[in-house]
Amino acid sequence: MSDYSEVMLAKLNPEAKLPADVYIFLNGKHVKFKEKGDTLSQEKYDLFLAKNVKSIYVESEHILEFLEWISDQKEEDIEDMVKNAGEENRGLIEDSLEMKEKVYEVFSDEKLTPEKVEAIQENVRDFVDKIKSDPITAQAIEAIMKRNDDIAAHSINVANLAVFLGMAVGHGHSFVLENLYMGSIFHDYGKAKIPPEIYNNLEHPDYAKWINDHPENSVKIISKSEGIPDQVFNIMLQHHEYYDGSGYPSGLRGSNIYSLAQIVSMANEIDNLLTKTKDEEDEIRYKKVIDMLTLGDGTKWDPKFFPRVTQAFKVGFLGDQKLT
Ligand SMILES: [Fe+2]
Repeated sequence: MSDYSEVMLAKLNPEAKLPADVYIFLNGKHVKFKEKGDTLSQEKYDLFLAKNVKSIYVESEHILEFLEWISDQKEEDIEDMVKNAGEENRGLIEDSLEMKEKVYEVFSDEKLTPEKVEAIQENVRDFVDKIKSDPITAQAIEAIMKRNDDIAAHSINVANLAVFLGMAVGHGHSFVLENLYMGSIFHDYGKAKIPPEIYNNLEHPDYAKWINDHPENSVKIISKSEGIPDQVFNIMLQHHEYYDGSGYPSGLRGSNIYSLAQIVSMANEIDNLLTKTKDEEDEIRYKKVIDMLTLGDGTKWDPKFFPRVTQAFKVGFLGDQKLT
C-alpha cells in the first residue's frame, strides 16, 4: 500500500501540468484524481474551494519531486511577472505571491469576522496597486479612458469589487485574480463603441440590439490584442448571463456559466446600483446592495457564492459585526 503526503491546494497553479499523479481523500481513502501530465483545471480548483477542500495528496515517494516542481513554478511565476513589471518590483511581486496562501487561509475558516474581511481588503489594495503598475494593465486602463470616461470609471470600480468578492469566496491565486481584474476592466469595452445617439436614447429602435451585442463586441475588439487569456474573454462574454438562464447574449444556465464571469456580474450590478443611488446615505445604499445580492442568490448567481458574498459585503462596507 502506498503512503501519501499532503500538499496545500493553494500552492498549486491550476493551469500547470502535474509532475505526478494526484489524489484526493474521499470517504476515508485516497482516490486518484489526476494523472501525471494533466492539469488540475480551473474548474476543479474552484469546485474544491467551494467545498472547502484544502489539500490534495501525492504518493510519498514522489513528494520531493513534487515540492521541487512547486518551487520551480513559483520561480517561473516570479520571473514572468518581473519581466512585465520591472526588476525594481521584484520584492513586491514576491510578497504578492505569498498573499495567495494568506487569502486561502481566510477562506478556509467557516466564519468571516471583521478582522478577516479587513485582511481581504488589505490584500485587495496590495493586489490592485501591483496590477496597476503592470504596463499591460496601465495601457488597458488608458485605452478605455480615451473611449469613454464613465465606462472607464465603472470598469475600474467593477475590477476592484470583483477582486474583493473573488478573494472573499477564496480565490487567492494571482493568475485568477489577474483574470478577474482584466475581465472587469474590459467587460463593457463594446459599449464604448455604441454610437452616442443610440447609447443615450433608450427608445432608439437599435438600442436593444447594441446592448445585447456589447459582450460579443467587447471580445471582438480586445481579441485583436495579443496575449489575453481565454478566461478574460469568457468573463467579458458572459458577464450578463444569469444562473437561471435568463441572461444574455446566450441564455447560458447554471454551471455552464464561467464561474469568474458570475463574480464580475455581481460586481457589475453592485457598482450600477451604487452609482444609481449615489445621492443617498451610504448605509441605505449598502443595504440596497445586500438586498439585491440576496435576491440574486440562485436566480442571477450561483448559490455556491452565498451567503459568503453578502457576509463579506456586509462586514466590509457596513461594518456590521452581527453576521446572520
Ligand atoms: Fe455590460
